[in-house]
Amino acid sequence: MILITGGAGYIGTHTLVELAMANYDFIVYDNFSNSSEEAIERVSKIIDRDVVYEKGDIRDLQKLEEVFEKYSIDSVIHFAGLKAVGESVRKPLEYYDNNVVGTIRLLECMKKFECKKIVFSSSATVYGDPKTTPIVESFSVGGTTNPYGTSKYMIERILNDLYIADNSFKIVILRYFNPVGAHKSGYIGEDPNGIPNNLMPFISQVAVGKRECLSVFGNDYDTHDGTGVRDYIHVVDLADAHVKAIEYLNSHKFSSEFSVFNIGTGHGYSVLDVIKTFEKVSEKKIPYKITSRREGDVAKCYADPALAERILGWKARKNLLDMCKDSWNWQVKNPDGYKEK
Ligand code: NAD
Ligand code: UFG
Repeated sequence: MILITGGAGYIGTHTLVELAMANYDFIVYDNFSNSSEEAIERVSKIIDRDVVYEKGDIRDLQKLEEVFEKYSIDSVIHFAGLKAVGESVRKPLEYYDNNVVGTIRLLECMKKFECKKIVFSSSATVYGDPKTTPIVESFSVGGTTNPYGTSKYMIERILNDLYIADNSFKIVILRYFNPVGAHKSGYIGEDPNGIPNNLMPFISQVAVGKRECLSVFGNDYDTHDGTGVRDYIHVVDLADAHVKAIEYLNSHKFSSEFSVFNIGTGHGYSVLDVIKTFEKVSEKKIPYKITSRREGDVAKCYADPALAERILGWKARKNLLDMCKDSWNWQVKNPDGYKEK
């Protein structure tokens, strides 16, 4: 059975669906600090079976141990964490405590119960401002510009040190690029609190009439139209990467048990590209204004995902049109998200 920490969240819920389709058993462990039990209910509807879950914090070692005693857990997909970049600058101790200390507690518990397989959610943010694009996994990491990014970098280092000390651990680190989109059913999707920080949910809320105008943060970058370029990846493709990572950890074929993979499409799209595509699928005009650059943003960030294809047999299948279409479908069907969060 796989323990899914943070399984009630945006990427977690989509991963539950893909795992269920691949016939894996799992149990969700989440403190619902940024999600709701409603999200779990929605997953149950999609997969047509109950989702087993326990409410708990990854920092609560006693509760974690109870869960490991109760269920026979052989691997962990570790999504749980706080993820708002701006908030992390204001609340660094909370972010390091939740993300770094939380991960250490989880790893201690795994060690105690001889559960040695883990897939960890890292981020392209660990690359900082890359010298060139596309980004390959061997690029230097650690030039992070905020406590959120630094917490991801620290956890990567901790996992690496743990593997050096005990190479019976089998560790896969997935560095996500920019997850967007939603399950095609429209039952699950991204449900940000308050004003969205990220581009796609902000555009969706403008399109549905919840917000008046999008601010485009800078049009003087060295990119094809001057606006920031990112590697947007459909959340269902991203979810599938976790299924492939689990398959990989369960197989005996791999040469190294500590592996890092970029999870992106390999294509970079600008803010204006995303606006145009969203307008096309939603048939809505997205009013926008150009404002100054956002602090900490880089010009271009997109992946070379070849390693994940070669080793995990994973490749993104959905394009920007699919991403916009599914984000819009979720937004229209759930203008207020899950509501009860
Ligand atoms: P999310 O906030 O929707 O999901 C995270 C889940 O973890 C939530 O359900 C939350 O309640 C839970 N959680 C947080 N702290 C916890 C704790 N201490 N104990 C137990 N549960 C806890 O975020 P998401 O977008 O699904 O992201 C999942 C993971 O992927 C995170 O680690 C995030 O940092 C990482 N990631 C996300 C993005 C992105 O753009 N969404 C990009 C790169 C990496
Ligand atoms: N942008 C706007 N206006 C907005 C929001 C964003 O113009 O209202 C622009 C940004 O300047 C950037 C692009 O849209 O050029 C994408 O911005 P997002 O905030 O959607 O995504 P980021 O690339 O800044 O950050 C995301 C995640 C982080 C993660 C990082 C790298 O939010 O958690 O990718 O993986 F660390």
